[in-house]
Amino acid sequence: MRVVKIDRYGGPEEIYVTEVEKPTPADHEVLIKVKAAAINPLDWHVMRGTPYFMRAMTGVFKPNKNFQTLGADVAGVVEQVGEQASHLKVGDAVFGDIFNYGYGALAEYVCVPEEALVLKPDNINFEEAAGVPVAALTAYHGLRKFGSISPGAEVLINGASGGVGTFAVQLAKYYGANVTGVSSTRNVSLVKECGAEDVLDYTEQNIADQQRKFDLIFDAVGNLSLSEYKGLLTKNGNCAVVGFGGMAHLIGAGLLGGKHIKMVDFKANQKDLQTIADLMESHDLSTVIDRTYSLDEAAEAIKYLETSRAQGKVIIIP
Ligand SMILES: NC(=O)c1ccc[n+]([C@@H]2O[C@H](COP(=O)([O-])OP(=O)(O)OC[C@H]3O[C@@H](n4cnc5c(N)ncnc54)[C@H](OP(=O)(O)O)[C@@H]3O)[C@@H](O)[C@H]2O)c1
Repeated sequence: MRVVKIDRYGGPEEIYVTEVEKPTPADHEVLIKVKAAAINPLDWHVMRGTPYFMRAMTGVFKPNKNFQTLGADVAGVVEQVGEQASHLKVGDAVFGDIFNYGYGALAEYVCVPEEALVLKPDNINFEEAAGVPVAALTAYHGLRKFGSISPGAEVLINGASGGVGTFAVQLAKYYGANVTGVSSTRNVSLVKECGAEDVLDYTEQNIADQQRKFDLIFDAVGNLSLSEYKGLLTKNGNCAVVGFGGMAHLIGAGLLGGKHIKMVDFKANQKDLQTIADLMESHDLSTVIDRTYSLDEAAEAIKYLETSRAQGKVIIIP
């Protein structure tokens, strides 16, 4: 089967497509024929081996075996079932985030533990499903689990037009919040279509100068300082930071933010992914797809994502 591989850390020029042996599922795994995968900034962080602390997990000098084939988001069809796998059957259409389950979605096939997957709703296609797990779960975790979003809350979403932001705007709207998005001029209409009442154009105004206060800030960029967050929050407001704005930002927001300002991370789990799948099925949430690339164009796709200009999700089709 064909896979997208890297042997050493570096830019997109390190990415190549090669043939490897088709894997066999272990006892609790299923073999998925990949129909679509999505890429996320974490894939280019793995590719570059930055920030360096990530290498404790991905390999110090070069990516270790588990991280040589990129791709966390996968959607496909179960082709073979491990001996102890009891929930899924051959032919099931599934999707999931496999970052903590072996990674390697940019491939024709991948073996995944059942617990990482949920059934794909019939009303969404494989590309739409592939775009969901990492981005939607990040938004869900920040807004719902950390942010305790509630009806009527004033919510600010920075980076509202990206992979995570487009889900965050829709989810905040779904939970009854009044949503203000932040984007550049060309994305104002997209963010409004996702459900934002108001969009602040960061090319025309300094977001930190707002006189308005927000009950919840969801920052998918990471370019505001601790004091700017504080200035924008109501007294008991919370700020979920998911965007990685560099080490200074990580330290500022992550270590010094207190209980109201947190770098939030999530661990994929079936229960939350099922919640998201249900919202897709009920048409309350949909995937905004920017571009679709083939497996051979994976380097091109990552190069594009690295520009931080994607409007929604970037999808790879094997
Ligand atoms: N903590 C976690 O678990 C977790 C999980 C997933 C992602 N993340 C992080 O979250 C961030 C966003 O991820 P993503 O998948 O949404 O990335 P993405 O799709 O690459 O984001 C691209 C979007 O960011 C917008 N953007 C860029 N600079 C901006 C600025 N200064 N102000 C407002 N918007 C800006 C762009 O819109 P314009 O062209 O309009 O500027 C573009 O639409 C990344 O840093 C990623 O590493 C963290």
